[in-house]
Amino acid sequence: MHMVPRMMLLFALLCPAVCLAAAPALPKAYQKWQKSERKVVTDKSSLFYGIHYIYADKKAMQGYKGGNKFPEGSSIVVEHFNIKDGNSAADGSKNMVVLMRKDKRMKDTGGWLFAGFGADGKPSGLDPVGTCFGCHQKDAAQRDFVISTINDFKH
Ligand code: HEC
Repeated sequence: MHMVPRMMLLFALLCPAVCLAAAPALPKAYQKWQKSERKVVTDKSSLFYGIHYIYADKKAMQGYKGGNKFPEGSSIVVEHFNIKDGNSAADGSKNMVVLMRKDKRMKDTGGWLFAGFGADGKPSGLDPVGTCFGCHQKDAAQRDFVISTINDFKH
């Protein structure tokens, strides 16, 4: 075997461990942040089919209040739940968590870090550029790529 294919094989074997370790972690205390109203999406063709809540830290709340202009470091988390037995009045089991954090190094994704997690909070390895950014760019290019607004936090 030649050297290059062997190294590629080694990388492919190690990547699940190494690459996940390098992935961003979910902020531990996000459930203490400002929480949005309960949002229900009953359209089954939507990625967001189910129930979700948005959590915004202090910097992100400043950004929402300023009409979606977010300072560096702003962090926003969404928790998604299934609809239980087709009844949208009750939250079903948690099915995923997503994070956006304003980070000017992330030039390919509008100056935001995008990351997806499973219900257990472990990185789900979704591709931030392919899976996340396209949609946010299409819907919210004029709002700093954040689709929700301050109105989502008025209970
Ligand atoms: C098919 C389109 C679509 C894709 C793909 C998508 N999102 Fe979103 N995202 C939305 C919509 C729509 C909202 C607003 C939900 C609301 O108003 O409650 C949203 C909201 C969010 C929010 C709350 C802040 C905001 O913009 O309102 C975060 C954080 C987020 N998404 C992260 C992600 C991450 C991370 C990924 C990739 C793993 C992703 N999203 C993929 C459509 C998408």
